[in-house]
Amino acid sequence: MREKLAALREKAVEQIRAADSLDALSALRSSLMGKKGELTQILRHMGGLTAAERPALGQLANELRDQLEDALTAAAKGLRDAAYQRQLGEETLDVTLPGRRDEGGSRHPLCQTMDEVEDIFISMGFGVEEGFEVETDYYNFEAMNLPKNHPARDMQDSFYITDDILLRTHTSPTQTRVMEKMCPRTPVKVIIPGKVYRRDDDATHSPMFHQVEGLVIDRGIRFSDLKGTLLAFIRRFYGQEQEIRLRPSYFPFTEPSAEVDMRCVMCGGAGCRTCKGTGWLEILGSGMVHPKVLRMGGYDPALVTGFAFGVGVERLAMLKYGVDDLRLFFENDARFLRQF
Ligand code: DAH
Repeated sequence: MREKLAALREKAVEQIRAADSLDALSALRSSLMGKKGELTQILRHMGGLTAAERPALGQLANELRDQLEDALTAAAKGLRDAAYQRQLGEETLDVTLPGRRDEGGSRHPLCQTMDEVEDIFISMGFGVEEGFEVETDYYNFEAMNLPKNHPARDMQDSFYITDDILLRTHTSPTQTRVMEKMCPRTPVKVIIPGKVYRRDDDATHSPMFHQVEGLVIDRGIRFSDLKGTLLAFIRRFYGQEQEIRLRPSYFPFTEPSAEVDMRCVMCGGAGCRTCKGTGWLEILGSGMVHPKVLRMGGYDPALVTGFAFGVGVERLAMLKYGVDDLRLFFENDARFLRQF
């Protein structure tokens, strides 16, 4: 038995030294010390020994088990260390290189502006509706009291798809769509943000731009409701010290109509290039919903009145952030966008 143990030690130590992978080591571990392993087999014959022989041989066997265990562990560590060293040699790591920066994106300034406008109106109890960018002549013009051949159609040079279908020139057509959906319920109190299209292209006009339309219909809506709502909006958006002024204007879909100006954000009202010396900036169009428009939406102008407004999102953003060329919003130059 003694000889068997000694022979096993010699053989096992040699095998462990020769093992060249962790897999080989673990196979070796079970062939030596597993249930059917060689050491286990030898120990099974301990029962045939005399009581005098047993303690010394038992101790010898235990020592051998511990030695093999240590040798296996050490060999595994050696293999792991070697693999690590090999990897370090293969991978060149220059700790002096600057780190790779994770460039986080941000919301586009126009999206931020629209979100802000929406938040302000939602806080005043408005709902948000969306219409269609491809519209029919009926909704874009006729239902807005711009019948065929109306001269005011010329103000909105349009992209036609067929004679009767076009890219909407304003968000106003969605007024009628909302009215048709809501009628006869009151109040109607919505804003309608979205893209609109016109054949314009210069520093302050783009063929595609964004508007936010507003529509309020209820019994007893007055012009003062329009003024108060728009003043509250302008103050929330541009600062509580802002003032507005309403000038009589003309839109076919409102009567009376008003152009809304605010104090020039560049000069504070003293007069500068941006406001052409007037101290005021035109910011949006508005008015009391024309009775014909109410009727085409299904409402009875004898029972309800309403106000509406339309504001250009690019213009809001340009005046808020001091951007002097609208095209910057669409060039997607990261140096521009990063500033918001
Ligand atoms: N739709 C007009 C435009 O695009 C803006 C506008 C003016 C909308 C007056 C309105 C309004 O709702 O009442 O020029």
